[in-house]
Amino acid sequence: MTFSASAPGKIILFGEHAVVYGRPAIAVPVIQVSARVTVTLTRSGEVVIQAPDIGLQISLADLPARHPLKAAIQRTARAVGIAQLPPCSLRIESTIPVAAGLGSGAAVSVAIARALSAALGSLLDDAQVCAIAYEVEKIHHGTPSGIDNTVITYARPVYFIKGKPLEQLPVGRAFTIVIGDTGLASPTAKAVGDVRKAWQADKMHYEAVFESIGALADSARQAIQQGAVELLGPLMDANHGLLRKLGVSCPELDALVLAARKAGAWGAKLSGGGRGGNMIALVNKEQAKKVATALESAGAVRTLVTEIKASQG
Ligand code: MEV
Repeated sequence: MTFSASAPGKIILFGEHAVVYGRPAIAVPVIQVSARVTVTLTRSGEVVIQAPDIGLQISLADLPARHPLKAAIQRTARAVGIAQLPPCSLRIESTIPVAAGLGSGAAVSVAIARALSAALGSLLDDAQVCAIAYEVEKIHHGTPSGIDNTVITYARPVYFIKGKPLEQLPVGRAFTIVIGDTGLASPTAKAVGDVRKAWQADKMHYEAVFESIGALADSARQAIQQGAVELLGPLMDANHGLLRKLGVSCPELDALVLAARKAGAWGAKLSGGGRGGNMIALVNKEQAKKVATALESAGAVRTLVTEIKASQG
């Protein structure tokens, strides 16, 4: 018997880093990329994990205790109330670039929780899946806000404040985002840790920057709900400026952000942990190809165009 589940990637539109300190942030799923997990119950043998994308084929028993895949599997078994997993194979495939700020780790956890709980005969609900993925995020990067696992579990735009109940974000009018990948690994744990150190050394200054970022996320929420898409560009530019102040940009991200603006994007910023990974640009749909080409000329190793659809009704 085979059970499959998949989960999308994500981008943060506004508020990364400040969201770790209780400020609001906005994120949307990116359905063009996804992680897929297939669980096959076998007659005998052990629990085997196959992740061909990263050349991994290993039995669960041989993975270190704090390995994220092991944690996702064991937490799922515990949530279902099973002490001893039956023999099975878990095949993990993903088109989400790793360490790129697109939520690859959280997407794999969500897909594991769904596929494995179904295979164990007790499909977990979204809140349970989200909680498992959050615990695994802590292994990936220490003090996560929870935004990645939340937007990926619910697979819809979210307005997120750490520790608060999920708020969906109605989208008044569709808008288009071009995503550009620097090709550099984004060390989220290190970037989040460095911001923490800087905050500890000068709380007044950093709290003020977080507050300004939170205010941008609140303005963006209104603009998105009202369909005032043209207002989002300057908000993105301002958010990128504040992320530079936090020290989480890098020359490669800045170059792509500049190239996007020059090619006619309405606004652009880094997205996610920073210091590498991806940036995003808000564009007129007709300009998307031109901006993507400009990003590639400026060094992006990959570009992706995604449309955030208007909410129904
Ligand atoms: C990472 O996608 C977003 C950060 O704000 C970290 C977090 O919220 O956990 C940098």
